[in-house]
Amino acid sequence: MAVSALGTGGMLQGTANAAAVACSVDYTTNDWGSGFTANVSISNEGTTALDGWTLTYSYTGNQRLSGSGWNGVWSQSGRNVTVQGNGWNANIPAGRSASTGANFSYSGTNAAPTSFSVNGTVCGDEGGGPGDPGDPPGDRVDNPYVGAGVYVNPDWSAKAAAEPGGSAIADEPTAVWLDSIGAITGGSAGNSTGLADHLDNAVEQANGQPFVFQMVTYNLPGRDCAALASNGQLGPDEIDRYKNEFIDPIADILQEYSAAHPNLRIVNIIEIDSLPNLVTNVSPRETFTPECDEMKANGNYVEGVSYALSQFGAIGTVYNYVDAGHYGWIGWDDNLTASAQLFHQAATTNGASVDDVHGFIVNTANYGPTTEPYYTINDSINGTSVRQSDWVDWNRYVDNQSFALGFRQELISQGFDSGIGMLIDTSRNGWGGPDRPTGPGPQTDVNAYVEGSRLDGRFQAGNWCNQSGAGLGERPTAAPVSGIDAYAWIKPPGESDGASQYIENPEGKGFDRMCDPTYEGNPRNNYNMSGALPNAPLAGHWFSAQFQELLDNAYPPL
Ligand code: BGC
Repeated sequence: MAVSALGTGGMLQGTANAAAVACSVDYTTNDWGSGFTANVSISNEGTTALDGWTLTYSYTGNQRLSGSGWNGVWSQSGRNVTVQGNGWNANIPAGRSASTGANFSYSGTNAAPTSFSVNGTVCGDEGGGPGDPGDPPGDRVDNPYVGAGVYVNPDWSAKAAAEPGGSAIADEPTAVWLDSIGAITGGSAGNSTGLADHLDNAVEQANGQPFVFQMVTYNLPGRDCAALASNGQLGPDEIDRYKNEFIDPIADILQEYSAAHPNLRIVNIIEIDSLPNLVTNVSPRETFTPECDEMKANGNYVEGVSYALSQFGAIGTVYNYVDAGHYGWIGWDDNLTASAQLFHQAATTNGASVDDVHGFIVNTANYGPTTEPYYTINDSINGTSVRQSDWVDWNRYVDNQSFALGFRQELISQGFDSGIGMLIDTSRNGWGGPDRPTGPGPQTDVNAYVEGSRLDGRFQAGNWCNQSGAGLGERPTAAPVSGIDAYAWIKPPGESDGASQYIENPEGKGFDRMCDPTYEGNPRNNYNMSGALPNAPLAGHWFSAQFQELLDNAYPPL
């Protein structure tokens, strides 16, 4: 991303340069899993030389400086890193930059810092590109999350804060779901505010700084064809209503805000589960449903997604991320390539182009871990690959991050831009609490090993409804690893996935037995127990018992 900030140098740190500081910082890493090299380039975006500079930034993890760095004097105190220019590079002439670097060790997640300051003034990161002041509105940055705040939905925040213990997470950013035509003006089950009012709030929260507004576009004709819990308001053939009454009015509102507020970066998640369903849940597969066969035959998922992409893609500050299922669904070879091909087809018909796709999101509203720390797909026990275990069952991936990165390569090879970024919904995939493994399982046989190692606590990776034992996952984080634009909370924790018994409602939602804890399954979860919590309300409605369990089992713990 590339935004510069002009500050007044209020908090000078022992430098002679009391004039206004305007700076941008480009931070890149070469990461080998347990350590990394940080390369930092500081650009002087001002009109006078920076005579002496002190760079400060913070990590959110356990990154530790190792050695003394180069081309600068590096030091660390807790999570705060300080670098001072010395010798020949202490002076940065106007319009020029200085580079410095150091090695670090870490474990867990290596999230890139999101803010840098020079001589106490906050910088943008990486000047000279699109997004700089003076550029026409509409130039997209590479990763919208870097250097930007993210919208806290006041509706969700109030519900979280009202729960015992909920204030610990009530100011985390979550997405706004547009799940019906009425939601555009009147809000949805989970949030009572309309889109324009949310955007007004976002402008206020942004306070003139780069700012991400996360929304989900979720109202296709014949929605949720492989399940019933999130069936929607539009019938399978109502593609014209989808375009005219749903996408067009949303696009009008986004266009208006985009023109007036170029600092708002609208991350638009496009139609959860829709295209993957057309790959895996259609005839002649055993997992087919008549509804998915119908949506494949009538073409309305592809037409709806391509229409949404082209309309939103035409708005300069909208970043479209298409939903790409999750590791326990699309990770098998048969599903992976076919899905990437279908995504490419949808992104190149009806006026859409691959330029309308900024990236993809995995694990939306699902429960698969971001990473499985205690086993990998490459492990074997007594010569038998973990791919042959009952749990992995020949999947190519064991977690969402490896899947996201692998699928990203597949998407690029099918014709998507090499700059696409991935998002991972980490709202409910933490799997902490007392049942969380603390190391690899026994090496007696491949099943014992995988069962003992895996964090994913479900009966089967195809289970998706209100999973018992789940916890909050990684807190929202910008640029956690190369290729991943962010860990984001798209499914608002505490909102149900579906009712555990039939509840009459005006939202079009059905009753799916995958949300019934007594259900023994179907071909799509290989006839396993559903693993769902009891007494759940309709999809999108507040489910206090689940919220409490998510807090208890949060990982990282709260
Ligand atoms: C529901 C939507 C809801 C969303 C977010 C979906 O499962 O169908 O109505 O807005 O979850 O909670």
